[in-house]
Amino acid sequence: MEKGRVCVTGAGGFLASWVVEVLLSQGYVVHGTARDPGDAKNAHLNKLAEESGKLKIFKADLLDYDSLRSAIDGCIGVLHVASPVPPTSVPNPELELLEPAVTGTLNVLKASATSKVRRVVYVSSVASVMMNPNLPKDRAMDEACWSDKEYCRKTGISNCLSLLSLMASFQNWYCLSKTEAESQAFDYAKSNGLDLVSICPSLILGPLLQPTLNASSAVLVNLLKGMPDPAPNRIRHIVDVRDVAAAVILAYEKPEAEGRYICSSHTINTVNLVEKLRSLFPDYNYPKNFTVGEEWGYFSNERLKMLGWTCRPLEETLVDAIRNYQGARLLLG
Ligand SMILES: NC(=O)c1ccc[n+]([C@@H]2O[C@H](COP(=O)([O-])OP(=O)(O)OC[C@H]3O[C@@H](n4cnc5c(N)ncnc54)[C@H](OP(=O)(O)O)[C@@H]3O)[C@@H](O)[C@H]2O)c1
Repeated sequence: MEKGRVCVTGAGGFLASWVVEVLLSQGYVVHGTARDPGDAKNAHLNKLAEESGKLKIFKADLLDYDSLRSAIDGCIGVLHVASPVPPTSVPNPELELLEPAVTGTLNVLKASATSKVRRVVYVSSVASVMMNPNLPKDRAMDEACWSDKEYCRKTGISNCLSLLSLMASFQNWYCLSKTEAESQAFDYAKSNGLDLVSICPSLILGPLLQPTLNASSAVLVNLLKGMPDPAPNRIRHIVDVRDVAAAVILAYEKPEAEGRYICSSHTINTVNLVEKLRSLFPDYNYPKNFTVGEEWGYFSNERLKMLGWTCRPLEETLVDAIRNYQGARLLLG
């Protein structure tokens, strides 16, 4: 039985490909947007469209309102996943990160309101939750926590003295893009009577459906292929891509869903992650030395669990991801 017509933005991306796959398997008709549907990186989407007969691909850019309007027209729900997630720093973060994230999200919401969509689910990030030096350290971060926009902007200006400083400044621009987009989205939804729910995932890992490597999967691939010594001993908050897709659909389907939901399953530092990986896949070139570790912090996923969400064990995510990378020959060279 057809469950309804929904639009997924950025349908060819890592997370969105899983969202589309699950929606189709559950009987939805899907309008998927892609900036360049004919690009080889969207081959999996075109194949899915052909095989299912229930996926229609629309060429749309987040900064082109009319293209979004055409894709959203006739849909009862919108799952807004698209946003820039570049693997490294970009020359002009205002233009390349902030503009598509913020103006793009407002364009999606405006088109959704005009098309009388019943609910929009926006995929935000823990980047909009955690980047705030004033958050209390003695308890888990929950949905009441917001990143501090001014702090993100200030620390986004790198002194360019080291690679670590460059990486941190870039990360803070990304945090700013997600925080601005999510907070402005809730303001817009409130003023325009739009039903909006957000999902805030942590580092998403798991098997890829798309043929190219995305930024978060590159974190695990780099750990397997060899990193500079000593490797940074980061705290990683990890969630499986299939569990995030399930969370997005749960947030869309459950009538009682409202507000924000943190979507994070496991917290581990790089030293312990490498130990776990070595026990599962002993033959890779793991880092041997690590820098002094970061301060631990945790997220609460209680709110999402109350909605009925469950998550996989970390081992399952790692094993499925790495077997998938091996099959796609992403670990060679
Ligand atoms: N991966 C993570 O660890 C993680 C964690 C928390 C939150 N998130 C959020 O989850 C969402 C998906 O991330 P992902 O990891 O799946 O990234 P991804 O594979 O890089 O996918 C990003 C998608 O956004 C699209 N996009 C970027 N700029 C666009 C624009 N101007 N117009 C239209 N589409 C645009 C890309 O389309 P093109 O193919 O045309 O470039 C791509 O389909 C993002 O909102 C991200 O912030 C990701």
